[in-house]
Amino acid sequence: MGVILQNSANRKFRLPEGVKPSEFLQKNDPTPGEPAINEVIKMPGYPKGSIFVLDGLMANSPGFPVGVQINGMSAYQNTLAPPPYKSRNVEAIQRGATVFEKANCAQCHSGRYFTNHDVIPVSEIKSQPSRASALAKLPQTFVPPETYPGNVSVPLPSDPPVISVPLKITPERVRDLAYAISNPAGGYKVQNLIGLYLTAPYLHDGGVAASAAALLPDADGYYTVAKPDQIGLAGTWMQHIEPDPEASLRVLVDRDLREVAIATNRANPDLQAINVDGSGHEYWVDRKAGFTPQDQSDLIQFLLSIDDDPAVLPASAKVAAAN
Ligand code: HEC
Repeated sequence: MGVILQNSANRKFRLPEGVKPSEFLQKNDPTPGEPAINEVIKMPGYPKGSIFVLDGLMANSPGFPVGVQINGMSAYQNTLAPPPYKSRNVEAIQRGATVFEKANCAQCHSGRYFTNHDVIPVSEIKSQPSRASALAKLPQTFVPPETYPGNVSVPLPSDPPVISVPLKITPERVRDLAYAISNPAGGYKVQNLIGLYLTAPYLHDGGVAASAAALLPDADGYYTVAKPDQIGLAGTWMQHIEPDPEASLRVLVDRDLREVAIATNRANPDLQAINVDGSGHEYWVDRKAGFTPQDQSDLIQFLLSIDDDPAVLPASAKVAAAN
């Protein structure tokens, strides 16, 4: 940071003539003793990380007890929800919820938040594999997860008490897969489905996308690709075209449409360089799986309608909510 500021184009940020960046930063460091100028504390085991804090550092401003700010941020994030979806066709959404169950989507996207919180091995989910193995090196340096009790304040005293962090909330099998420990290919977590009407493109690499004009129904009512240059991320964002949620979800669940999206993405060298193709998650609601065009459209209406307080819940999620 000192080196960057040394030659800052804006005079306001430029270091004084002739000073050494490291000395200047050290003299003006608002958080002496902590790495760089961040308001962080060193966790037990630092510089090694743990499954609790990956880099061994936790954000914590001076003057606050340990964990108060980060727990406050978690509580705040738990209140965030997309704006309500204005359901138009409740009958179609109801039929779509039935298709969702018939197609076994609820096996993974279960309960009130449409996720069973499982991690699915790459060999099974088959979506773009590069990111799932990316964390594999980290656990090699992990120490057992520890923190300081909440009555300790920052700056930390010289010999603070230490407590261990319980890991029981996540099954070991899921943790080991998430960090590519038990399986070097790793896996991907089952996504919640809340707010899909706002979050196209889909899948973790964002490769599943289509513009509103990309698809048109054929004589049988099944959708086909009308504009092959407006499908995939290559045909939307890369062309400054907004992905359409309804068309993009159709690309997600229809294998013929998806094939075109993947091929378009793979033909784009920039997308290949950043590992985007929109592959995998092969759970189809299409002609070959025996679903009608009506089934497919109803399912999409249902998926779009899932907000923080869905108008329609599948039967299995209603049972979960009642419990
Ligand atoms: C075996 C578990 C499993 C089944 C069955 C399953 N999914 Fe998924 N789903 C996942 C996982 C894991 C992801 C995240 C994959 C990724 O991003 O690479 C995901 C992602 C998604 C997404 C993208 C969410 C986003 O924000 O990008 C949607 C939409 C979705 N699933 C809908 C469905 C539908 C509809 C069905 C049934 C036809 C279904 N899923 C069946 C595990 C499953």
